[in-house]
Amino acid sequence: MSRMIVISNRVAAPTQGGAGSQGGLAVAIAAALKEYRGMWFGWSGERIAEYTGAISIARHDGVTTATIDLEEQDVDEYYNGYANKTLWPLFHYRLDLVEFDRAFGAGYARVNQRFADAVAPLIEPDDLVWIHDYHLIPLARELRARGLKNRIGFFLHTPWPPARLLATLPQHEELVQCLMTYDLIGFQTEDWLDSFRAYILGQVGGSESDGVFTAYGASVRAGVFPIGIDAEAFIAAAHGPEADAAHDRIVHSIAGRKMLVGVDRLDYSKGIEDRFLAYERLLTDHPEWIGRAFLLQIAPPTRAGIGSYQDIRERLDALSGRINGAFADVDWVPLRYVNRAYPRGELAGIYRAATAALVTPLRDGMNLVAKEYVAAQDPDDPGVLILSKFAGAATQMGSALLVNPFDGQDMMEAMDRALTMPLAERKERWTELYDGVRQDDVLAWREHYIAALQETPSQQGPWPSAAAPVQGQPA
Ligand code: ADP
Ligand code: F6P
Repeated sequence: MSRMIVISNRVAAPTQGGAGSQGGLAVAIAAALKEYRGMWFGWSGERIAEYTGAISIARHDGVTTATIDLEEQDVDEYYNGYANKTLWPLFHYRLDLVEFDRAFGAGYARVNQRFADAVAPLIEPDDLVWIHDYHLIPLARELRARGLKNRIGFFLHTPWPPARLLATLPQHEELVQCLMTYDLIGFQTEDWLDSFRAYILGQVGGSESDGVFTAYGASVRAGVFPIGIDAEAFIAAAHGPEADAAHDRIVHSIAGRKMLVGVDRLDYSKGIEDRFLAYERLLTDHPEWIGRAFLLQIAPPTRAGIGSYQDIRERLDALSGRINGAFADVDWVPLRYVNRAYPRGELAGIYRAATAALVTPLRDGMNLVAKEYVAAQDPDDPGVLILSKFAGAATQMGSALLVNPFDGQDMMEAMDRALTMPLAERKERWTELYDGVRQDDVLAWREHYIAALQETPSQQGPWPSAAAPVQGQPA
């Protein structure tokens, strides 16, 4: 088959993937690329004084990576700026946190052009090109402008916002025009596809036929491809020596108590603050859990250069201090709050030791922690997954205890229910979840997406023009 060229903002080779706070995208792509010839292209994560365009090629565990360094201004305007101060909060329905700044739009356009200049010469005519996430929406248009006629697919790992929210973005129309230059757009769930449909049909007056959307004089196929985890590898890791050691260490320190666990990047979209408040309420309304249960929250800092991330970190520091100050005793701490990353094996052992997991984002494209928690459980004594209705994963994981993360009472009751759930119900719920996690894994995701991309007749243009890059002009 053709080679596969994967392009994403961050590149994480599999051998580097054992620990670290890299998210679901990195973990999933490393697993997918192992079986394909081809290459993973993106930003090295390094900042340099002046952009050079020099490409570093490396090979790790069967995956070739090609990376470029970015200069300080690029990182500020593109990564910290347009990607994570504008699009990320907007795509997670947090208009209160969105920052619009024309310099961010210009930086976003510039870096996408730099990506295109650097990667275009590495792409052969029959390569499949697969571009990931909100950082790189304009990249296909830039590649088309450089003469590429390859099939180009896009996968969005985050939610796609409702049309009325998207319309608050000064460049909303241009962003959607950029999407029209792909051959296939993949969303995580029907909800996000519905929002895209509502924009194309309602906002632009476009049309849809058999999953193909036509607008701005171009057509693109769009579908739903829910991402999974590398279930086999994670299950194996969960039964390995590293997991056993972490599990035994935790069980020893638990001393017969029940553990609730949360594992998230320290991101405001993950709902950690509301989770802490609901847990505080549990200790207040159900004092029988004082001294008998505790919450372990693992949250490595992420995007630390951004004010909204510094704010949430400060708020969580204060809240965890308040909860521990109010409830701790000499031999029991109600909230263990840890700001570091763990290797996957250790994480699996920690998941296995937990009576319940709190995966309660306010909004999430999918959420892989929910799937990892299920994969790591002991079949004879499985834990309970408490899952936000607003995570993409909820559409596949209906046997979890589904909660509204904005409703503290609902979350508090789910915690109490999980901590007291009989073994038979835990097993029944877990078996259904486990079957789904194994079946809809990252390999199935990759196969479905690539098969759909290969089947999509390649459009040969004309595409919406690349003449006016996204650069902060109001639409
Ligand atoms: P996102 O992509 O928004 O970060 P996901 O839940 O989809 O959210 O993916 C998070 C990934 O990052 C999971 O694979 C998870 O195991 C990993 N991760 C999160 N926190 C940690 C941590 N403290 N240590 C190691 N890995 C972590
Ligand atoms: O899944 C969403 C995502 O933004 C990924 O694209 C990214 O790998 C992950 O979260 C972690 O974010 P960052 O690369 O900004 O640390």
